[in-house]
Amino acid sequence: MSFKLTLLPGDGIGPEVVGAAVKVMKHAAEKFGVTIETVERLIGGASYEEYKNPLTDETLQTCYDSDAVLLGAVGGYAWENLPHHLKPEAALLKLRKSLGLYANIRPAKVYDEFLESSSLKSEVLKGTDFVVFRELTGGIYFGQPRGIEADKGFNTMVYTTEEIERIARKAFEAAAHRGKKVTSIDKANVLEVSQFWRNVVERIAKDYPDIKLNHMYVDNAAMQIVRDPKQFDVVVTSNLFGDIISDIAGQITGSLGMLPSASLGDKYALYEPVHGSAPDIAGQNKANPIATILSVAMMFEYSLKMTKAATVIEEAVGRVLKDGYRTVDINTAGGKLVNTTDFAELVLQQFDEVCNEEALGVFTL
Ligand code: IPM
Ligand code: MG
Repeated sequence: MSFKLTLLPGDGIGPEVVGAAVKVMKHAAEKFGVTIETVERLIGGASYEEYKNPLTDETLQTCYDSDAVLLGAVGGYAWENLPHHLKPEAALLKLRKSLGLYANIRPAKVYDEFLESSSLKSEVLKGTDFVVFRELTGGIYFGQPRGIEADKGFNTMVYTTEEIERIARKAFEAAAHRGKKVTSIDKANVLEVSQFWRNVVERIAKDYPDIKLNHMYVDNAAMQIVRDPKQFDVVVTSNLFGDIISDIAGQITGSLGMLPSASLGDKYALYEPVHGSAPDIAGQNKANPIATILSVAMMFEYSLKMTKAATVIEEAVGRVLKDGYRTVDINTAGGKLVNTTDFAELVLQQFDEVCNEEALGVFTL
């Protein structure tokens, strides 16, 4: 099998974490007998500097010609005051929309090693394992009309039946392979668009009789995630609510540096760490590559349907952490401080170790 991947390292720590993750990816591909062809392009501030455009048609075309995209991060102080459509963030939104990536999947899983470094008590957090399905190409991020006039600014939150149905189905299908529970988050007590969202989700739920569905208002959900995160299995929500909820979910699990994501459409897929470009530590080989490495694991799972390769990568990352190795963002007392490239190297070693154990029957995938 041969697979085409566009690399968009982007800004700040993007190139470093993508570099580390690509090493792990190539190693895994070789081990599991799949060819992954990569081509690299600019995006965000890096692209603006070169072309005065954060996402060129040529980069977009390269993405269309690929099976998937691996993105680092976009943004930085230098581009904060550019007009909206030239900002690095605009490139990301255009890319999501152009590739039809309507389902953004953000897992929130706690490693036992990080129970102590979370802002929550470990007994509240231990065992937390849920996943957010955020609608990514609709809602208030894209609704018309929008604008700024002399005496007002406005955006529109709109959802069609089709937009809600397809993200809801993805969430129910995921729940069938997990804890069989979906929580739909909305603001149906105030917003018509949310009442409509709720009605559609209710109707779709009828096709999945084994899955338990509950609804939660977004303000309550924000509170429930920090009060009792274990109650969640699969969360499904709109673009803006998902943006906010997934940051809360990220924070309680320890470090944003560890959270991967997948954005899927019917034809294309994009994988990226949830964290940003961290310009303050860029270029110093200090960044935590875990989120990007785990994004590569998600790529193996969702795009290549190679669940085994994904599991080996996840297990390898877990073992490096268990051995006490830490990048600077997650280094608490007693950790062994390593840099970005060393961390990736340790993951490679553990990767081989897990494969050997599996061959010997000591470890079962
Ligand atoms: C995210 C980010 C983006 C978003 C920004 C950078 C446009 O916050 O991926 O969560 O709001 O979707
Ligand atoms: Mg966000």
